[in-house]
This record gives sequence, C-alpha cells and structure tokens, in this order.
Amino acid sequence: MSTLLHIDSSPLGEGSISRRLTGEFVRNWKLANPDGEIITRDLTAGNLTSINTAWIVGAHTPKSSRTSIQNEVLALSDALIAELQSADEYVFGVPMHNFAAPSVFKLWIDQIVRAGETFSYGEGGPVGLLKNKKATFVIASGGVYEAETAMAAYNFVEPYLRTLFGFVGVTDTNFIAAGGAAAVSLGRVDSQVFLQPHIESIRTRFHAA
Ligand SMILES: Cc1cc2nc3c(=O)[nH]c(=O)nc-3n(C[C@H](O)[C@H](O)[C@H](O)COP(=O)(O)O)c2cc1C
Repeated sequence: MSTLLHIDSSPLGEGSISRRLTGEFVRNWKLANPDGEIITRDLTAGNLTSINTAWIVGAHTPKSSRTSIQNEVLALSDALIAELQSADEYVFGVPMHNFAAPSVFKLWIDQIVRAGETFSYGEGGPVGLLKNKKATFVIASGGVYEAETAMAAYNFVEPYLRTLFGFVGVTDTNFIAAGGAAAVSLGRVDSQVFLQPHIESIRTRFHAA
C-alpha cells in the first residue's frame, strides 16, 4: 500500500492557486491508489517553530543521552520526519513569496533537515537518507520565471527545493510551475481558466503513468 504526504504552505486558503492544484493532484492520486493512505500537513496551521539552541544541541546529542527538555523540543521535528519516512510519495504546494518559498516552508525545512535522520556525514560528503521517494512540487507565482529568460535568475524557489531535497536524498522530483497568477489576482483572468491547463497536465501525468 502506498502513502502520499500532502503538504500545503499557502496562507490563502481556498483562493490559493497552489492548494487547488495540490488538491487536484491528491484527487488523481487517490483514484490511482484507491487503497493508498494520505497524510496531510498544513504548514500554515501555526505550530511550526524556529529551531533554537536546545533544538540544535539536542539534535547533535545521541538519542540515549538527550534530556527530557531536548526530547520535547525535538518532538515536532521527529513527527515531521516520521511523515517523510513513512510516505512513498510527496506533493508540496509552494507559493512564491518574495522570490523564495514562504517562511513557513523554511521553518518546516529547518525542522526536517537533521543529521542522522534525513542525512548523514559519509566519507565522501553528506549522504541523503530519504531513499526511493518521489516528490512533486506545485509552485504558484505572480510572475513567470521560465528557464533561459532574464526572470529565471529571480526564481529562488525551484533551484533551492531541488538542492535541498537532493541533499536529503529525494532526487526523483517533478516541478509544476503555475506562473503568471498575477493575472488572476488582478482580475484579468478567471481563476478556473488559469488553472485549467495545469489541471489537465496533472490528469495527463496520472493517465500516462
Ligand atoms: C507576500 C507575497 C509575496 C509575493 N511575492 C511574489 C514574488 O516575489 N514573485 C512573484 O512572482 N509573485 C509573488 N507573489 C504572488 C504569488 O506568488 C501568487 O499570488 C501565487 O498565486 C501565490 O500562490 P497561492 O495562490 O498558492 O498562495 C507574492 C504574493 C504574496 C502574497
């Protein structure tokens, strides 16, 4: 039985482009995996905290020697990492905020990148420990950041996610760029019209598989 981890990070609720597309992905995934399990994590729920001294010291202390306070501080990180380990596949909704992923997404990243858990220090350098995972990233942005254009240099979302997830071992990645969403927020294009080609492309991915 397959497990999908579905993570959203847009603060815009039902008006969010990335959420509507991850929702479409999840619906199609469920049709393709009727017995599959879906874990849902909303990064805007307000429970993500910045890592602090206790977190960093605790994470570098062997499990058996950790204090109860260190265990408590690491509990959220443990839970988020367990979700990544137990799922076979991930789908992330990521709105571009100021040319980067939103701050809640960075809070989540700081919680899940942990030596001995999601990467280790190998002889030849760091080794990612999340093996045989497949990740799809839906990135919604007001502007368009196509490769080979001048605007591509402003896109710190996709290159960062590619590097970061590669670092923890997730190299089978798929990026869906829903660029140009400013036309929707400015009222120039209907949201359903904007979403339709992306919805079609998500459906095609499942039908082609
Ligand atoms: C705080 C904030 C910052 C944004 N910064 C950018 C930006 O740097 N570049 C861009 O192209 N769009 C930017 N946008 C537009 C969003 O990327 C766009 O509205 C997108 O649809 C957001 O995804 P969502 O609808 O899933 O929330 C920003 C929007 C907000 C609310």
